[in-house]
Amino acid sequence: MTSTLLTGIGELVTCDPEAGDGSPLGILREAVLVIENGRVAWAGAAATAPAADDRVDVAGRAVLPGFVDSHTHLVFAGDRAAEFAARMAGERYTGGGIATTVAATRAASDEELRRIAGSRAGEMRSWGTTTFEAKSGYGLSAVDEARILRISREFTDETTFLGAHAVPSEFAGDRAGYLDLVRGAMLDACAPLAKWVDVFCDEGAFDAEEARAVLRAGMGAGLVPRLHGNQLGFGPGAQLAVELDAASVDHCTYLTDTDVAALAGSDTVATLLPGADFGTRSPYPDARRLLDAGVTVALATDCNPGTSFVTSMPLMIALAVREMHMTPAEALHAATVGGAAALRRTDIGRLSRGMRADFVVLEAPSHVHLGYRPGARLIHEVWKGGARG
Ligand code: NIG
Ligand code: FE
Repeated sequence: MTSTLLTGIGELVTCDPEAGDGSPLGILREAVLVIENGRVAWAGAAATAPAADDRVDVAGRAVLPGFVDSHTHLVFAGDRAAEFAARMAGERYTGGGIATTVAATRAASDEELRRIAGSRAGEMRSWGTTTFEAKSGYGLSAVDEARILRISREFTDETTFLGAHAVPSEFAGDRAGYLDLVRGAMLDACAPLAKWVDVFCDEGAFDAEEARAVLRAGMGAGLVPRLHGNQLGFGPGAQLAVELDAASVDHCTYLTDTDVAALAGSDTVATLLPGADFGTRSPYPDARRLLDAGVTVALATDCNPGTSFVTSMPLMIALAVREMHMTPAEALHAATVGGAAALRRTDIGRLSRGMRADFVVLEAPSHVHLGYRPGARLIHEVWKGGARG
């Protein structure tokens, strides 16, 4: 395999705190990147860089780790534009619309779901995402949940079983029966296709006892827990996530001081999803409180048809900077290192020796432009595993 030397890098964001300016972004100037066998072989001074077969000059552009989108609902059919319009006219989000998407997804063929997922994954890539997680949750039967996961796995290894997203209409009046199915035959069908287990633990969704039972069953089947929590109101999600050593609790719009303290003393990441707060006209999470308490924070899109039909990590960064008082550096860190931590991955999110060569060449001289020029197409090129495109 050939090696490549990247030169002309205006600003190399390594996210390696040992490198460069010593900040969490580990910014290097007048540095080069050498890529070999899909990994970073060198990130540092040109003078001491190893020789390479090819040379690519990026003409003063910034180079950063590819974005890690640790929370998406990749596979779903239909849209809920009318629900969005009603919400913008004053209606509240309740999660009740999940049933609409379940019906559309069940009715779609495998080919249709594959086509939709492929186009969405392509959109994510065009915005600089090089790794993303994908959840089930719009099938809600053993066959349909497994089908969604099987199709998701054609696009990512980071798949999550979310059978406990809502109680489907055929189980209305038999909530316990549905939870038995989720922990039984549905889990049996889905566990071999997933790495993670997730529950929507919130007002009007599943309570702490139900969520704990599903997550424990998933853990028994070899899955690692993560959680939707504290989106619609104060609730048990964050503390349950810490209790179970979940990789992440996602949303975190409503947190008490006790929740924040619990997260700060844990390995559970707080994943903030500003697209969902935008799309439901909710308050944004208090990112400053989490960062100041020492909690690891991730940013993700939550791409889904109900609350956040968004694939753009640059938009999440811009919202985090403008609306959540994160600095441009903190927001980029959360979109790369934070996402990697939320997926418990140590091979992505940074550009230091040995890491996967997943990176973005920005159509700008500095990462600050991601917050400074919201909505602009700033992605010049995306490289994954050392390959362009
Ligand atoms: O992450 N909150 C739960 N699940 C999704 C939205 C589900 C839907 O409305 O379709 C979310 O926001
Ligand atoms: Fe979600």
